[in-house]
Amino acid sequence: MSEPNQPALENLLTEGRRFEPSPEFAAQANVQAGAYDAVGEDLAAYWAGRSRELLTWRTPFTQSLDWSDAPIARWFADGTINAAYNALDRHVEAGIGDRVALHFEGEPGDSRSITYAELRDEVARTANVLASLGVRTGDRVAIYLPLVPEAVVAMLACARLGAPHSVVFGGFSAEALHSRIEDAEAKVVITADGGFRRGKPFALKPAVDEALAKGAPSVEHVLVVRRTGQETAWTEGRDVWWHDVVPQASTEHEPAWVEAEHPLFILYTSGTTGKPKGILHTTGGYLTQVAATHRDVFDLKPATDVYWCTADIGWVTGHSYVVYGPLVNGATQVIYEGTPDTPHRGRWWEIVAKYGVTILYTAPTAIRTYMKWGEEIPAQHDLSSLRLLGSVGEPINPEAWVWYRRVIGGDRTPVVDTWWQTETGAIMISPLPGVTAAKPGSAQTPLPGISANVVDDDGQPVPAGGGGYLVVNQPWPAMLRGIWGDPERYADTYWSRFPGVYFAGDGAKKDEDGDIWVLGRVDDVMNVSGHRLSTTEIESALVSHDWVAEAAVVGASDDTTGQAVVAFVILRGGGPEGVTEAELVETLRQHVAKEIGPIAKPRQVLVVPELPKTRSGKIMRRLLRDIAENRTIGDATTLADSSVMDLIKSELSGGGSKD
Ligand code: WTA
Repeated sequence: MSEPNQPALENLLTEGRRFEPSPEFAAQANVQAGAYDAVGEDLAAYWAGRSRELLTWRTPFTQSLDWSDAPIARWFADGTINAAYNALDRHVEAGIGDRVALHFEGEPGDSRSITYAELRDEVARTANVLASLGVRTGDRVAIYLPLVPEAVVAMLACARLGAPHSVVFGGFSAEALHSRIEDAEAKVVITADGGFRRGKPFALKPAVDEALAKGAPSVEHVLVVRRTGQETAWTEGRDVWWHDVVPQASTEHEPAWVEAEHPLFILYTSGTTGKPKGILHTTGGYLTQVAATHRDVFDLKPATDVYWCTADIGWVTGHSYVVYGPLVNGATQVIYEGTPDTPHRGRWWEIVAKYGVTILYTAPTAIRTYMKWGEEIPAQHDLSSLRLLGSVGEPINPEAWVWYRRVIGGDRTPVVDTWWQTETGAIMISPLPGVTAAKPGSAQTPLPGISANVVDDDGQPVPAGGGGYLVVNQPWPAMLRGIWGDPERYADTYWSRFPGVYFAGDGAKKDEDGDIWVLGRVDDVMNVSGHRLSTTEIESALVSHDWVAEAAVVGASDDTTGQAVVAFVILRGGGPEGVTEAELVETLRQHVAKEIGPIAKPRQVLVVPELPKTRSGKIMRRLLRDIAENRTIGDATTLADSSVMDLIKSELSGGGSKD
């Protein structure tokens, strides 16, 4: 933490604009003023009440929180429940089976609307198929799919069996997929021949074949959805087409009634070391908080709203706010397979108008991209159905916030800036849309039932106007229950910096009103387009290439993606013969894409003779970031060799490599 990877966002705190909810919105809001006071001192009792209100328990719980073995939390531990039953069956039993659960929009223009009753049946069939492929309660299933309805079906079919899913983002490489399958010891992999992106089919199944060829003895079967119709290599006995087995399977299926603390899923995310962490979430507490926050923060009215969260299911936002939160709440939602500019830059707004979307939840990087494309594009579409906008994934700069509200929200919608993480499972800090006078750029207030604060180096709360580290003081229902296969790393990573409280890895400030402004990571994690990437992981990928002796990666601020990956490399023996610098840079960028995935590809690779290091050998990323952001280089006095920065600068003045 001595070398924070933190963007300079101090100017945020000079933002003075306030946006009160309109009287009409406030009057009809699910959550009214007074919600914070109503919680009382006993947060666990509050959450127990929310859980009973929002979920259907098979066996009602009698205990709310057991924190006696901290930091291991047990929520609602003596209750039994099933996540898929809560997302689907109970809505059908309640007579709303004809409500549309998913409006699916494929990138090429195909679309399907699926009701709750249909989705329930498809999930039950798929659960029967998975069971016939040997999946039992507790077995892990890897899911590597584009954003098609089968992705939602696959996740819920696993949940129905009590088989934790591990979804791997379809943009990750075979290498990344392999390490995740191996770590989770998945029994089955669910994938597709491919998906559509930027107007073209891309393949997925070959990456699964390649990953399994690297050795994954736990995998017995691969269930393959036909999406693009591409030619696909086939391993007889192992591979099974979805369309050969799911349609004819029975819709009779008894959900596995699991204990509240039964694992629901594992989701890998980047940490400060090279190895991604398998974040473990369990069932009862997680479902309670995703349902409560989805209802409260987005003011969801399930019978009338059309909700659209643009996240892919490969990220936690897709888990909590595409799959579990909205479906447990009985919402109607849109899912869209592709990119915002295919076949034209108005595609999202066309979708909003087509389905009459009322609630939109997306990331600042998308908003900034639309700002760049110009407001005449959204202006060509009817966006009058929208009544609430949400933002997640990275700090939203006030200009983007105000643009979002004015251009997309017609100057009338509340905007909720929601702070949370893969580890927190659900939203933790956010305005309440009918209550809070919103401040552009600030997530503002911990939600009712959440206790978070900004503390200094000694763990003491900072006074108004102060800055420090964001912490959560009390356990919350959707908190991670550990890191898959590595219990010690869980306690070390999150609970040791400030004993007894959860350290989120983010820097934050508290303003004069006590509102929280999240500034970004203070560890070696970058945030590129709202996606978490580890500097160490990309450095490891670079040094695994023969040409590279040493590498240092920083997140440099970027107008569109928030941060961008900039790599500094020292070549082995002066570099390869007969290769131009441009070829070398491109080769290394592709190498990172192959090792991790295209999202990790550096924006720039800069070849340098040395790296700035402290006497203890730690790379001073702050100085490298000064170079990457074209700033005057800061204090270099703690360097082991203070001439290194001059050497790097003179070498680089010969030209970088940006595309
Ligand atoms: C950042 C995504 C500022 C933060 C849900 C956090 C944010 C990391 C916000 C988690 C926000 C997320 N304002 N920063 N509203 N939301 N972040 O695990 O640095 O992919 O630690 O979860 O994103 O990223 P993750």
